[in-house]
Amino acid sequence: MPLRNQVIAKLARTAVLFATLSVCAVGHSGEEQMTRYGCYSCHRVAEKLIGPAFRDVAARYKSRQDAAEYLFQKVRAGGEGVWGDVPMIPNTVEKIPDEELRTLLAWIRSL
Ligand code: HEC
Repeated sequence: MPLRNQVIAKLARTAVLFATLSVCAVGHSGEEQMTRYGCYSCHRVAEKLIGPAFRDVAARYKSRQDAAEYLFQKVRAGGEGVWGDVPMIPNTVEKIPDEELRTLLAWIRSL
């Protein structure tokens, strides 16, 4: 193989490696944040606890246009009736800042 092709192949492998690593990093920090902000007292990624599994949430809102805004308001205000009779308590801005909540919701919707 000419040297130039070898260099390109090496660069491509490095790029794939970095992409993989950054996906892992985001997944990991999502779980850490969930613990830090208390979401994991009631939620898990793959199973229903007190609240729905985040994978089920992702599936339910996959094609809903205003999902980001809807979920933001819902998690802030709390509420019940979508997944059952158990209410989610409000998650105030003192508990989790806007920016962090939006990041977490994007992570949930990517599951
Ligand atoms: C006290 C337990 C509890 C905590 C703490 C909690 N949740 Fe929930 N969550 C619930 C319950 C119960 C529901 C189902 C509400 C319903 O049926 O409408 C829910 C629903 C949701 C939904 C789906 C909303 C919908 O209308 O489909 C999302 C997204 C969500 N929670 C995210 C979070 C995030 C992010 C946090 C942390 C900031 C959090 N929750 C903290 C109990 C909790």
